[in-house]
Amino acid sequence: MSRIAYVNGQYVIHADASVHVEDRGYQFADGVYEVCEIRDGHLVDERRHLDRLDRSLRELRIDPPMDRGPLGVVLREVVARNRVRNGLVYLQVTRGVARRDHAFPAAGTPASLVVTARSVNFAASDKGAEVGIKVITVPDNRWERVDIKTVGLLPNVLAKQAAKEAGAKEAWFVDASGHVTEGSSTNAWIVTADGKLVTRSAESGILRGITRTVLFDLAEKEQLRIEERAFTREEAMGAREAFISSATNLVMPVVMIDGQAIGEGTPGPMSRRLRERYHAYAEFSV
Ligand code: PDD
Repeated sequence: MSRIAYVNGQYVIHADASVHVEDRGYQFADGVYEVCEIRDGHLVDERRHLDRLDRSLRELRIDPPMDRGPLGVVLREVVARNRVRNGLVYLQVTRGVARRDHAFPAAGTPASLVVTARSVNFAASDKGAEVGIKVITVPDNRWERVDIKTVGLLPNVLAKQAAKEAGAKEAWFVDASGHVTEGSSTNAWIVTADGKLVTRSAESGILRGITRTVLFDLAEKEQLRIEERAFTREEAMGAREAFISSATNLVMPVVMIDGQAIGEGTPGPMSRRLRERYHAYAEFSV
């Protein structure tokens, strides 16, 4: 079976799917994206992802390529045509195609929309979560508007590659004051000695992760204590537990930061519990 992608109004064979060379996403990274988990054939947290997409588009003054109803149809169609039961759907919107010029193209230039989907072996991910991952830290050299989910991800790409070359799975960005902001494609969390969950406020320095938001709901309903504040690299290294969150990783325990074991050096009970309970609080679309 060939994989299928949606590109600007058409479902095409994935291997042949392409955009114009003067697409502004290609030339200027002038676009935004979302990644949504697919579980047992359902989109997970679709409403929240599409709300965040709307916000990203508004912040960059890109006109939405279509309304939410038809967009939901396209997402489901791509998932169905690729026979994805468990995996992820990726959607990207750019400011469209126009002669290369930094300023916005003429009003009415249609945004470009691309949607792809692929299967993910969540059983393997669950196995990975039994072991946990290693993280390195790198200086945060990104722009200030990391609250917008743009496709301009070069610092994130370089950070992830540095992690890979160091035998780690994620890189945590550290700001000029020594505080961890977030991972290259995940939010960062620690658990304090007295069992509080700590993650940075989404007011600055991070993307407001959907998984992060759902974990706040979980914490509230299950009476877990949560502190929304910045933490330093040193505090993280002395924490009882650490973990990352994202649509693709859910909750993934961190067992080592910059070569130093966290807690017992194995996934802790809080990270395990949050991972197990996550889907009880996520929204499943029909
Ligand atoms: N990454 N921070 C950054 C920089 C991210 O890129 C992501 C998501 C997150 C977590 O957001 P969410 O919980 O909504 O997935 C935080 C996606 C999965 C990616 O780039 O593949």
